[in-house]
Amino acid sequence: MNANASIPSRNTFPLGRIAVVTGCSGAIGRATARALADRRWNVVGTTRVKNIGTTVPETNLLVQALDAEAVVRGDEWALPLLPVRSAVWGAVPPVALLVNNAAVCPAEWDAAAVQTALDVNVRLAARLADAYMFHGARDAMHPGAVVNISSGDGELCFFVEPWRSRIAALDTMAQLERLMHEVVQRVRDGTLPADAVVHGPEPAYRLSKALLNRLTVLQARRAPRQVRVDAVCPGDVRSAMTSYGGSRTAEEAAADIVHLVELQLASWRGETTPSGQLWRYRQPTTF
Ligand SMILES: NC(=O)c1ccc[n+]([C@@H]2O[C@H](COP(=O)([O-])OP(=O)(O)OC[C@H]3O[C@@H](n4cnc5c(N)ncnc54)[C@H](OP(=O)(O)O)[C@@H]3O)[C@@H](O)[C@H]2O)c1
Repeated sequence: MNANASIPSRNTFPLGRIAVVTGCSGAIGRATARALADRRWNVVGTTRVKNIGTTVPETNLLVQALDAEAVVRGDEWALPLLPVRSAVWGAVPPVALLVNNAAVCPAEWDAAAVQTALDVNVRLAARLADAYMFHGARDAMHPGAVVNISSGDGELCFFVEPWRSRIAALDTMAQLERLMHEVVQRVRDGTLPADAVVHGPEPAYRLSKALLNRLTVLQARRAPRQVRVDAVCPGDVRSAMTSYGGSRTAEEAAADIVHLVELQLASWRGETTPSGQLWRYRQPTTF
């Protein structure tokens, strides 16, 4: 597949079950896009990388360029599908599934690293879900799902008070945004060392994933009735992010993600647990 791929026609990329998977050049994103396409989803994979290879048949997989920065800045045209929509369909294609997979994992704790981690790992996920699930799908009757790919690194047990309590108490998107703004500001001022917030390596990543977990709860609460929102920790996966040192394959992680999607969509028929949970190894877990 090619990030510069020409716009597909209705016939080659039909309306129907559309999934958006961000970060599809990465290990888990690519495996997830492939697993969904194998299950007859029409997948829009997003990436900043041009000319990425894949074995997925191009009939149901489209790659679109996306950089988190443009979306977070509010550039509507950076949203995947928008150019396709206007050029081909002239109507909003129903995005039935959004997999917020894109992430960065900086080692540093400086204002730039924290800002980027929050933009890519949290704000991008929030913005895309708003665009597809809450605005576009508000009046639609088809069931929908959001899967935020998170991490056990964001569990609150790693956090220092008062941050642990502050994160757990976040109740609105505005409060979440204010907290992110405050952290970047204080890191820039030099008044907030990493160890005053969280224990362990990659503190900006840990903070972003804790906030993504909280975002998942808030999104689940305000989602339309037919839309489920959950997070999933894929385990320790061999990818660029782990220098290919993890114990699981990306395909194993993708199978768990697809399993969760199937549970989420089955909930439309009243068969499953409440929305807004963090899943690991196919079980809901605490965070
Ligand atoms: N690997 C693990 O053990 C592990 C464990 C727990 C959680 N996770 C989570 O699993 C997800 C996938 O991780 P992975 O291991 O597959 O990592 P990866 O191979 O490094 O993939 C990360 C993806 O994020 C995208 N990305 C980074 N910066 C971006 C930006 N500014 N704008 C848009 N996209 C951007 C990249 O997209 P492009 O380069 O395609 O633009 C890349 O494809 C992440 O959410 C990660 O936190 C992974």
